[in-house]
Amino acid sequence: MRGRIPDSFIDELLARVDIVDTIERRVPLKKAGREWTACCPFHNERSPSFYVSPQKQFYHCFGCGVHGSAIKFLMEYERLEFVDAVEELAQSVGLKVPYEGGRDAAPREDKTDLYALLDGAAQYYEDQLPKSAEAKEYVKRRGLDAQTIKAFRIGWAPAGFDGVIKALGNSETRLKLLNEAGMVAANERGNRYDRFRERVMFPILDRRGRVIAFGGRVLTGDQGPKYLNSPETPLFHKGKELFALWQVKQANKTLERIVVVEGYMDVIALHQAGLPIAVATLGTATTPDHAEVLFRATPDVVFCFDGDRAGKQAAWRALESVLPRMRDGRQAFFLFLPDGEDPDTLVRKEGKEGFEKRMHKATPLSEYFFAELGRDVELGSLDGRARLAERARPLIAKLPDGAFRDLMGAELERRTGAKATFQPEAHSRQPHQRNAPVQRSLVRTAITLLIAQPGLADLVERPYGFLALDKPGVGLLAELIDIARSRPGINPATLVEQFASREEHAALDKLARADVVGEPEMQKVEFLHALERMKHQAVVQRKTLLQEKSRSMGLDNSEKAELRELFTIRPPQSFTDE
Ligand code: UTP
Ligand code: MN
Repeated sequence: MRGRIPDSFIDELLARVDIVDTIERRVPLKKAGREWTACCPFHNERSPSFYVSPQKQFYHCFGCGVHGSAIKFLMEYERLEFVDAVEELAQSVGLKVPYEGGRDAAPREDKTDLYALLDGAAQYYEDQLPKSAEAKEYVKRRGLDAQTIKAFRIGWAPAGFDGVIKALGNSETRLKLLNEAGMVAANERGNRYDRFRERVMFPILDRRGRVIAFGGRVLTGDQGPKYLNSPETPLFHKGKELFALWQVKQANKTLERIVVVEGYMDVIALHQAGLPIAVATLGTATTPDHAEVLFRATPDVVFCFDGDRAGKQAAWRALESVLPRMRDGRQAFFLFLPDGEDPDTLVRKEGKEGFEKRMHKATPLSEYFFAELGRDVELGSLDGRARLAERARPLIAKLPDGAFRDLMGAELERRTGAKATFQPEAHSRQPHQRNAPVQRSLVRTAITLLIAQPGLADLVERPYGFLALDKPGVGLLAELIDIARSRPGINPATLVEQFASREEHAALDKLARADVVGEPEMQKVEFLHALERMKHQAVVQRKTLLQEKSRSMGLDNSEKAELRELFTIRPPQSFTDE
C-alpha cells in the first residue's frame, strides 16, 4: 500500500499542465479574448458561458457555476477519483506520481496492486483456454475467431478450487487483494477458494482499458447460474461500467452511435461481424450513470432488447434512466428484436447489413414514449386523456430544460389538450432564465407559425439575430428557416418530413397540426415580432454574462467595448414583458 501524494507534487503538476490543452482534448474550445470558451459540458446550453483561463489556469462556467483546476475538470468530466485524475494528468506530461510512504502518511488505498493482480488473473485465464479441450470446443461452437478471443481477452477458468489462488495468491497480502478484487470466496470454515471455476471468462475493462472485473459463463445449462459476475469491489461498480466500451473506443476514432445490447455474447458477436459499436450493461438495468457515460461517447444511443416481456420491461427502465440525460443533441432509439432472437443469433443470420438496417429503423424515444404510455388508454375519452397526461407529465419533467423537453411537452398537449408547463431545472442558477417560460413560448410560437406558413422564412436572412439567444428550440427554429429558405414553396408537411429521422419529428408533426389563428398577414407580424423579441432577449443574456464576468474574471478591451455597445440597444417596441 502506498501513501498519499505530496502537495508539492500537485503544485508541480499543475504548473506543468496547461489546462487549455487538457480541456481542449475533450471539449473543443474557441479563443475569446484572453480566454477560451465553449458550451459548458456540465449543463445544457446553446451559447458558450464556459470559460477557460490560461493565465489563471482554471475553468469557470457562468451558467451553472462549476469551476476549478485541470484536476477538478478531469475528476468531473471523466468521473475519475482524485488519484486517478492526477495519474492521468501526470501521464500526459510525462511525470511519475510519487507516493509518500510511512505510517504517518494519511492512509489511502492505492489500487495499483489491485489492477496488476486482476490483469494477472486475466492473463492466467487466457493462458488456460488453449489447454482445455472442452473450452476450445465451446468457443469454436459459438463461432469466436482467434482475433476476437484476443481482442476481448477471453479465457478459461479451469476446474478445481485454487487455480487462481495458486497462480497469484502466493502471499497473505496477495490473498487479501484477491479477496478484495472479488476473485475468491470463503466457505463457513473460512477456507478460501476460487470464485470462478469451469467457466469461459470475459474480462471487464474500465475506460482506461484496465481489467476491473470478470463475467464467467458455464459450458452447459446445469451448472448453476449461466453467467457469474464479479461482485461490487473498490474497482467495479456495475451500475457505472459498460462491457466493451473500451474496445468500442479503441475501434472508432469518431463514433456516430453506440448500440446497447443485453449480453456478453451479443456484444462480441456484433464486434466480430464488423459492428464494433456494441456495449452491454453487466447483468443490470441501464442506470442514469450508464446513460451519461454513453452520451459522453456518442450523440446517438440505440438500446436493443429482446421482443419478449422482459425485454420490454428492460427497455422502459432504460428509457426512464436516459430521460434526465437527454440534453439537446442527444438521441435515444429503441430496437426490439423478433421473438426468440438475440443480437448474437440475428447478426449471424442477417449479417452486418441486416443488423444495421434494423438499427436504422429503430424507434425514436419520443415515439416509444407516447406509444407505451398510451397503450391502454382510450384517447377518445376525457378520462383517458387525463390519465395519459398524468403519466407523462412527471416523466417529461425529468428531461433537462431544452428544445426536446419543449417538444415533448407540446406533443403531450397536442395529444391530451392538457397544458404541460415545467419548472426550470432546480440546479439552474442562470439569472437570464428568470423569464424562461415566456421565452420558451416565443420560440414555440415562431416554430408553429413557420410550419404553418413556411414562406415566412423569406422574411429573414442569416445571420439570424435571434440565434444568439441561449434557449431551447432556438437552433431548431434556425434549421427550419434554413430549410424553408432553401426550398421555396415547400409545404408544411414536407418541411416537417425533413426531420423524419430525428427525435424532434413527432413533436414538430404535432405543432404542424396545431391550430394557428389569425389572418396570414397577422401571422407574419407575429412571427417577425417573436424573432425580434428573441433577439433582444439574447442581448439581455449577453449583457448579464459580461457583467458577471466583469465582476469575477474581469473583461478585456473588446469585451468592455461590446458591453458598452450592448447598453445602447433598446428593446423592440411594445416589448412589455421585461
Ligand atoms: P442471456 O441469458 O440472454 O444470455 O443473458 P446471452 O447473452 O444470450 O448468453 P448466451 O448467448 O446464452 O451465452 C444476457 C446477459 O444477462 C446477464 C449476462 O450479462 C448475460 O450476458 N446474465 C444472464 C447474468 O448476469 N447472469 C445470468 O445468470 C444470466
Ligand atoms: Mn445469446
